[in-house]
Amino acid sequence: MRKNLQEPFWQALIVLAISYVLLKWGIPYIPPLIGVSSAPVPQSVLVQFMLTVAVGVLVWVSDNEERWRRFKQPIREALVLPERKRVRVALLVLLPLLVGFVTYDTVRPRVDAPAGIRAVHPAPPTQIDFRGEPVRIEGAENPLREEGRIEEARERGFDIYYQSCMPCHGDYLDGQGHFAHGYSPAPLTLRGGSTIAQLTESYVFWRIAKGGPGLPREGNPWNSAMPAWEDFLTEEDIWAVTLFLYEQAGISPRTWEEH
Ligand code: HEC
Repeated sequence: MRKNLQEPFWQALIVLAISYVLLKWGIPYIPPLIGVSSAPVPQSVLVQFMLTVAVGVLVWVSDNEERWRRFKQPIREALVLPERKRVRVALLVLLPLLVGFVTYDTVRPRVDAPAGIRAVHPAPPTQIDFRGEPVRIEGAENPLREEGRIEEARERGFDIYYQSCMPCHGDYLDGQGHFAHGYSPAPLTLRGGSTIAQLTESYVFWRIAKGGPGLPREGNPWNSAMPAWEDFLTEEDIWAVTLFLYEQAGISPRTWEEH
């Protein structure tokens, strides 16, 4: 065993195995340790990283003549030495079985939902273009709140919500509108702690103004039915309906952290 560990062939195999384990199970294991949610490493990324490791290993085993010879030796012995016949027979049986299994495993039908690697709340832009005018998102507060027009805005937001948003987001803001079941992804509930409670008002403003079409790339691949409301509502309308959402759901918006 000790002797084998000094052989480049086995060292290379060990490096590959350790890299695989680290990439496959190590990376998703780290984020929960520091308290953020993790996503599985996509197969294509895993394959790419493993190829990189394999190339590195090949460079290392072949960079001097002696090591290259020692690396090839176990392979050559297994293929030609008469006393290694059993190894050859075993490989002859195992390799096709392995290939067969991998092929079967990739094509067999699955019933589990596809892994959700979409960011539900992608990072907002610093500033957006609202009908040709710049509107700052980062650090911005709801101007209607600042101007103390909360009651007026709430009423205006109420009208807008029941005219435009209810069919999808529901009478109770719970994402259970009449049309909701026709969409995937479904309209989000605006109650509870998982959606707007985690967001600042200007983030919500951005999402309402730009809708599904305005989602950045990390929101893909998916087809959000959320319309881009800048085409139908004014800037003030959107601030008003944003304020209404928080008032109606009884939650307060997240505030921008002081820098
Ligand atoms: C055609 C259906 C539909 C209508 C109408 C609609 N939405 Fe949506 N909305 C969605 C869907 C689907 C999502 C989830 C996908 C997404 O985030 O884009 C969503 C997401 C949202 C979000 C993001 C919440 C979060 O946590 O990221 C907000 C805020 C929102 N809608 C507000 C509104 C408001 C306000 C209106 C009315 C002016 C409205 N929506 C009208 C379908 C709709």
